Amino acid sequence: MCGIVAYAGLEKAGPILFDTLKRLEYRGYDSAGIAVRCNGGIEVFKSAGRIADLEKAYKKMGSPGERMGIGHTRWATHGRPSDENAHPHISGDLAIVHNGIIENYLELRDELTALGYEFLSETDSEVLAHLINHNYRSDLSQAVSKAIQVVEGSYAVAVLSARSPYIVCARKDSPLVIGIGQGSNYVASDVPALLPYTRSVARLRDKEMALISAGQVTILDSQGQPRDLDPERIDWDVDAAEKGGYPHFMLKEIHEQPRALSETLAGRISEIEGDVRLDLGMNPWEISTLQRISIVACGTSYHAGLVARYFFPRAVGLPTDVEVASEFHHIQLRPGALLVTISQSGETADTLVALKKAKTCGVRSMAITNVVGSTVTSLVDSNIFTRCGPEIGVAATKTFTGQLAALYLLGIRLGRARNHLMPEEGRKMLAEFSRLPGLVQTVLRKKDQIEEIAKSYARFGSYFFIGRDVLYPIALEGALKMKEIAYIPAEGYAAGELKHGPLALITEGTPVVALATCGKKIQSNMKEVRARGGELIAFATEGDQDIPKIAGTVVELPATRPIYSAVLASVAVQMLAYYTARELGCEIDKPRNLAKSVTVE
Ligand code: M6R
Repeated sequence: MCGIVAYAGLEKAGPILFDTLKRLEYRGYDSAGIAVRCNGGIEVFKSAGRIADLEKAYKKMGSPGERMGIGHTRWATHGRPSDENAHPHISGDLAIVHNGIIENYLELRDELTALGYEFLSETDSEVLAHLINHNYRSDLSQAVSKAIQVVEGSYAVAVLSARSPYIVCARKDSPLVIGIGQGSNYVASDVPALLPYTRSVARLRDKEMALISAGQVTILDSQGQPRDLDPERIDWDVDAAEKGGYPHFMLKEIHEQPRALSETLAGRISEIEGDVRLDLGMNPWEISTLQRISIVACGTSYHAGLVARYFFPRAVGLPTDVEVASEFHHIQLRPGALLVTISQSGETADTLVALKKAKTCGVRSMAITNVVGSTVTSLVDSNIFTRCGPEIGVAATKTFTGQLAALYLLGIRLGRARNHLMPEEGRKMLAEFSRLPGLVQTVLRKKDQIEEIAKSYARFGSYFFIGRDVLYPIALEGALKMKEIAYIPAEGYAAGELKHGPLALITEGTPVVALATCGKKIQSNMKEVRARGGELIAFATEGDQDIPKIAGTVVELPATRPIYSAVLASVAVQMLAYYTARELGCEIDKPRNLAKSVTVE
């Protein structure tokens, strides 16, 4: 997730571009850049690091530039954060900024290189710059239109040319809004960037283009026909706007999960071969001689690892163990093991210490992380990036389901490479995997029901979460979320373990969340709870006839393969914890005593 902006108006573009970019910093902040019209040409200022540092350097140079420009704040997906990879990217006399993922960039890059275009960055975005330039004769909008026809993936793009009277923007599956002012017009990835300048906003729809000049905004629909601007008036305050209208970042991030899952899958599925495109940094022989997989992580990331402990033996055929990083010191790995570290931030001290220790055992190492360029990425042999965009709320939500998605991809890739998973099974798994973003949307629509449940039980004072198989880690995760943001003592249990002790704590009215979408065995454990007066809140597969006979409250989740039910149940427990915390008036995005990234042991 990156942020893009554009400006055409009566004032100098540079200061406005920097100001609007700073308001989009929550979308990414590892590098930034602007391109402005200047003396009949284009000047680009870009660098790795914070926008404020780039702005200082720009001011030192006398704030050059005229009244038209584009800008970008980057959150790296392809290519590390560096000056070269920062946007804008230049080709000929035009510059582009891009948010999204160009899935076929490798093919396009080869074709453009053969045509003589020189690539200066490792990004997928640079192909767009050369592609547009290659099609550019006299009309910039035609050049953009031709270029996007051959691009696969998602984009929100703004293009500035030294010889075009307008900036051209286009979007597909990435957001873009246009701010309409008096003699000045603006473009941004999100509304907050625009609020100090205008409250009149037109949203560009999928596959539309816009031509932006100081005095005019023209929107061309997906057929290339001009359409009415249809602006809306925004009356949010700036704080609400940064959260996209949501009251908390956590809720916004919960709702971003369908998109984050789609991005994590984008370009990585090979349906015909029933396989996954991932560079694991190992040759076929190295993959075939792996003997076990060891996963190390903390907190929510550890719970993602626990899901893989069920999935990998089935998909890959290798024994898999998982350890919390702070207890990794007693583990002795043997060569032949693959160490997988999972860390949203890539900076968690416990995880980094465990990784360094594991490396002394001579094992191969891999990281699943959300932050390109984070410390963990430089310590491992290969990386799988979740593409969830920055997560601001301390409670991990979209990055957790992103980690699950990355682990599914890794399992399928290894399973196929080791011939443990046959093409037909790979195809079936991937076909269902592709449905997940839509199924998560269905879970999000259960909001009213889950909020009602949260309100009913918020003041009970304790909570239990139970699950079996892949839903056991999600029971742990649900309990962690409840503790972390609602400050309610909550226990997560393997449902079969209840009778070995914790059942003593179940009294009249104790809320027990049963994650019941994976097998029938949990039903007997639910009956044990009911017999002690516990209040059962069940998340069950839609159409399940048995669960409503046992549980007083049932929330139906869509049917899917058991392994993917972990994702759907995760979203449900995140919502339950969120609405409970909200009912109790807790500080949701910054819970007491906690930090987003824990950099001490
Ligand atoms: O950045 P990491 O994934 O390494 O962080 C690990 C834990 O600190 C983290 O998952 C923590 O448990 C979450 N805040 C829980 O929501």
